[in-house]
Amino acid sequence: MLYLTSLHLSHFRSHKSLELECDERPIALFGANGSGKTNILEAVSLFSPGRGLRRASAEDMARRPEHIGWKLRGTLTAQGRQHEIELSSRNGAARSTKIDGKTASQTALGGITRVLWLVPAMDRLWIEGAEGRRRFWDRIALSFFPSHAEHSLSYEKAMRERNRLLKDQVTDDHWYRALEHQMALSGVAIMQARQAALAYIHNAQIAASTQFPKAELTLLQSENGPLPDTVEDLSAAFASARARDLAAGQLAGSASHGSIRALSQQRHACQRMLNRRTKSAFNFNYFSQCARIDRPNRRPANLIIG
Ligand SMILES: Nc1ncnc2c1ncn2[C@@H]1O[C@H](COP(=O)(O)OP(=O)(O)O)[C@@H](O)[C@H]1O
Ligand SMILES: [Mg+2]
Repeated sequence: MLYLTSLHLSHFRSHKSLELECDERPIALFGANGSGKTNILEAVSLFSPGRGLRRASAEDMARRPEHIGWKLRGTLTAQGRQHEIELSSRNGAARSTKIDGKTASQTALGGITRVLWLVPAMDRLWIEGAEGRRRFWDRIALSFFPSHAEHSLSYEKAMRERNRLLKDQVTDDHWYRALEHQMALSGVAIMQARQAALAYIHNAQIAASTQFPKAELTLLQSENGPLPDTVEDLSAAFASARARDLAAGQLAGSASHGSIRALSQQRHACQRMLNRRTKSAFNFNYFSQCARIDRPNRRPANLIIG
């Protein structure tokens, strides 16, 4: 079980100072439009790595007009252990995290909490671009594998550096090799986490007895065939795409890259015909399965619905 027993919002969005005491039971917040309900959910979503359910910057979350920064404090129970979590941002800086009084990384927080959310904007998840689905999928993968965040960051970092070399038309083979090796190492780990997460969800859906529509999910491979799935093969694929990338001045959607980043959902034929309500039900079922999955030594994720 993962739950907050107290939550304090200070200068966060519309809340100047808000204290909530609660327990492990589900909570329904009600109030007039604009009274700050979603702001509270957003605050809760920040108790896991990432930008939270609105994907807003720390600066946008600062209460206006003061704009001095914000602080969230929560007493979190996870796997029977209590943690004091403090999240804060000053003068628009990225948020900092403290766990039990000590400065910690967001990844460390991800080791304690797993949070998923379902908000109305996500009704469009299956009909809009692959980018949104990938982000959503990575959040699910992260909820299973906290190291997913580090692998993604390290992939992005190596890719950015490689892009910089490409842009500057650098041809130093060693330099590229080192970066491509790093991309391949993290790339393979990213793929494995995504695939394992997919398998968890797939199996949970099969095991579930529900009237809700089920999601048929497929990890799309490259149009040119299956992805290289070893570090050696992936490094080789990056290396062989280098000449083309050099001509383009950046990583030009090479087969391996494009596919690593391209997770998509094979749309179920009748899915197009689902109306809005059915789509919500579909998403709800999907998320509740994600949240419910229980594995040895791991807790299910908690689900925020907004
Ligand atoms: N940074 C901010 N500073 C002050 N108020 C904010 C900030 N961001 C949003 N708000 C206010 O929060 C309110 C919306 O709160 P929200 O939680 O979305 O409401 P609801 O209860 O309808 O979910 C709006 O009145 C908006 O002006
Ligand atoms: Mg709202």
